[in-house]
Amino acid sequence: MANDPASESLETARLSGVDYNTHFDPKIFLGNYHGRESRFCDKLLEMLHELTAAAGIRDGSRLLDVGSGPSIYSVISAGIRSSEIVCSDYATQNLDEILKWVNGDPDAHNWQRCFEYVCTLEGKSDEWKLRQDHIRQAIKRVIPCDVHQANPLAPLVFEPFDVITSSLCLEAACSDESSYRSAVKHVTSLLKPGGILFMAGVQGETFYYVGKKKFKAFPLSNEITESAFAEVGLTNLKWYNETSDIKKYTFEGHSNDFSGLFAVSATRISG
Ligand SMILES: C[S@@+](CC[C@H](N)C(=O)[O-])C[C@H]1O[C@@H](n2cnc3c(N)ncnc32)[C@H](O)[C@@H]1O
Repeated sequence: MANDPASESLETARLSGVDYNTHFDPKIFLGNYHGRESRFCDKLLEMLHELTAAAGIRDGSRLLDVGSGPSIYSVISAGIRSSEIVCSDYATQNLDEILKWVNGDPDAHNWQRCFEYVCTLEGKSDEWKLRQDHIRQAIKRVIPCDVHQANPLAPLVFEPFDVITSSLCLEAACSDESSYRSAVKHVTSLLKPGGILFMAGVQGETFYYVGKKKFKAFPLSNEITESAFAEVGLTNLKWYNETSDIKKYTFEGHSNDFSGLFAVSATRISG
């Protein structure tokens, strides 16, 4: 078993790519990063709320979430006016976890506190259940995705989306700057000209743990993202960065080495 990463020590195993299918445990990930007291998740929600509130998303927008994992929090703000939401991920077990939530399975993760938090930020704290019902009903498809493919949703082909959200995905999916630039290009190809991309995540991260499994990450910075976005015609960038007092985010288990959180919105230029 010398070649089995799971048998290596915690310090040397670095999981990536197809390992997501075999080593990424949705329940453990949700417990580690999106548990009941997760200030980390709250901060991501707050950043996405600020950027979407400023963006003016149109009624009936079609929304794609890229690299959803087992999570739906990243569409709570941007999906407020969506008639159709498509969630996507590389790993089947993550898609199954989302489907459980959509279908109201008692074993599904409970996202109530995230809905309450976002609706409170919007000044409508009593509407969290309405929003939850809306998002649950708007999620029409939960499908495979690989950001390293020219069409990440292949073999399916969709009309370009009005809105794309993606949280904590590209830094986990990409091994270096070149693959990150390609992934940004592939994801942007799914966005309409004039459409809006909301991306949130972590910067400076080289690894993160899910339980005892250590996954590789590509250390992002604003500069790398700005350059990759400019290359594919993503303009009008609005940033929300948090780099101070990062130690306040505590995680169960072995955690990660990120140095900052970010969210950015950008518009795909028309024509
Ligand atoms: C850190 S998790 C983030 C999940 C979720 N977006 C969240 O914020 O909770 C990283 C996700 O990226 C997905 N992923 C890894 N490689 C990918 C790829 N090539 N294409 C699409 N998604 C990928 C993994 O399956 C995993 O769900």
